[in-house]
Amino acid sequence: MMKMEKTKKFVLLALTMVLVFSLAACGAQSGGDEDVVTYKAVTEPSFPPFDTTDEDGNIIGFDMDLMNAIAEDQGFKVTYEALAFDALIPALQAGNADIITAGMNAEDPARQAKVDFSKTYYDSALVVVVKKDNTTVNGFNDLTADMKVASQIGTTGADKTNELKANGQIKEAVILDAFTTCMLQLRNGDVQAVIIDKPVAESYVAKQPDFVKIVGEPEGAESYGFAVQKGNKELLDKINAGLQNMIDNGTYDALIEKWF
Ligand code: ARG
Repeated sequence: MMKMEKTKKFVLLALTMVLVFSLAACGAQSGGDEDVVTYKAVTEPSFPPFDTTDEDGNIIGFDMDLMNAIAEDQGFKVTYEALAFDALIPALQAGNADIITAGMNAEDPARQAKVDFSKTYYDSALVVVVKKDNTTVNGFNDLTADMKVASQIGTTGADKTNELKANGQIKEAVILDAFTTCMLQLRNGDVQAVIIDKPVAESYVAKQPDFVKIVGEPEGAESYGFAVQKGNKELLDKINAGLQNMIDNGTYDALIEKWF
């Protein structure tokens, strides 16, 4: 009995190996992996859990996992490169990249004029983050003319901060390259508040509960989408189809579970 089982297993193993090798040979002949088109995606990775880096500097996050799942589903590959947030759309326009995976608000007409967006995959809004011991600022309306407020360059948060400055509500809009630098300035007391996307603020507060807090009600609802070059319908259709499949087959929910 035992011996039969072993023989069976061995035969199965041998058959599997023959199959794998012949498939590999087939692949090599027809070009195989080389036929799979690879797209270049760009992001700004100081925006966890959407866009961040691991200890080795690899770009990771919810956006990358979701795009990789879409790519696998639709039979393409993606590589990722980091840029400043305000350089992402120009990179697409210049033809230096194919996809933006950056927690980017897709509902901005100025952006829609420059790139095409996929169906949206995450609803968000802006919040105010202050130091834990701040007792005067309890929301957007409590920001005052003596305060400096930081945001990341090119973002909806920066739009809001610039608007507060233009209205004379705050003293200075401090527009910085990375979200992490905004938080550093808050820690140092160089700014009194940071305006940033709610899910990113929540993830930061969860890691640094003794240092910062979110105050007041969120403002400016937005929804994130992936961007492609204007008119790249072929790629956009693949991304939209893959995104829908990932929602339908539970991968999207599993990734939300993983990252949030
Ligand atoms: N959602 C905001 C926007 O679209 C901020 C995105 C920042 N993303 C990033 N990867 N740094 O402007």
